[in-house]
Amino acid sequence: MDDIIVAKNLYKTYYQNGQTIPVLKGVNLKVKKGEIISIVGPSGVGKSTLLHLLGALDKPTKGKVFLGEEEVYSLDDKELATLRNRRIGFLFQFHHLLSEFTALENVMMPGLIKVQSPKSNVQSHREIEERAKGILEEMGLEKRLDHRPCELSGGEQQRVALARALVNEPDVIIADEPTGNLDRKTSEAIHSLLWRLSEKKGKTLIIATHNEELAKRAERMVRLVDGRTADDRRSKRR
Ligand SMILES: Nc1ncnc2c1ncn2[C@@H]1O[C@H](COP(=O)(O)OP(=O)(O)O)[C@@H](O)[C@H]1O
Ligand SMILES: [Mg+2]
Repeated sequence: MDDIIVAKNLYKTYYQNGQTIPVLKGVNLKVKKGEIISIVGPSGVGKSTLLHLLGALDKPTKGKVFLGEEEVYSLDDKELATLRNRRIGFLFQFHHLLSEFTALENVMMPGLIKVQSPKSNVQSHREIEERAKGILEEMGLEKRLDHRPCELSGGEQQRVALARALVNEPDVIIADEPTGNLDRKTSEAIHSLLWRLSEKKGKTLIIATHNEELAKRAERMVRLVDGRTADDRRSKRR
């Protein structure tokens, strides 16, 4: 009932240069609202592929994904874009911030896109600016609002990317190796922040990592093995 994401018998096969690459071979997964889960497995096993399917970024070869009541891949491309913008916050290994814009502008961007979409309950530029500032402050970046990405450290860039993922108050945060590119200490700080904010705001967090140490912090760990979720155990939260 309170499942926010349900994946049913998901298959994903890539076709490249005449080669067939079967990556997901019947993944079933249910994620409850507010749950924090980590997806683990060695590089190349299909973690990113799975996250893309769960996050409405790429269509499965077979199978279904439900986000709440909505069957994600029955929507057309425009509806999918709206769904992503409203309901899902993404955080990737590389921050993908826009280099010409300041930290504040980068964080405001998804909010401004939301305002322009037809079904929007209109929010003013000012409201979005206030919200973006609030989130950046929560992350200790109040003195970095006018900095461009190149003027920020790796950890700061990733915090800005996290603020951007949160600005539209998504139900689900999907994080794909969000600290793979950072040193150990910074990586731990980002993980703590991600955990703390997800818990505080009651967000569902799905985080892929090959770092099992960090993965064990999640209340639930899902292991991808040979294209399926083989192991799904609850570990004690630390
Ligand atoms: N767009 C693509 N086209 C072809 N093969 C791909 C594509 N994306 C990923 N793959 C392949 O699918 C497999 C799983 O990749 P990925 O989901 O990125 O794994 P992980 O995130 O666990 O490292 C790899 O063998 C990779 O080379
Ligand atoms: Mg990956």
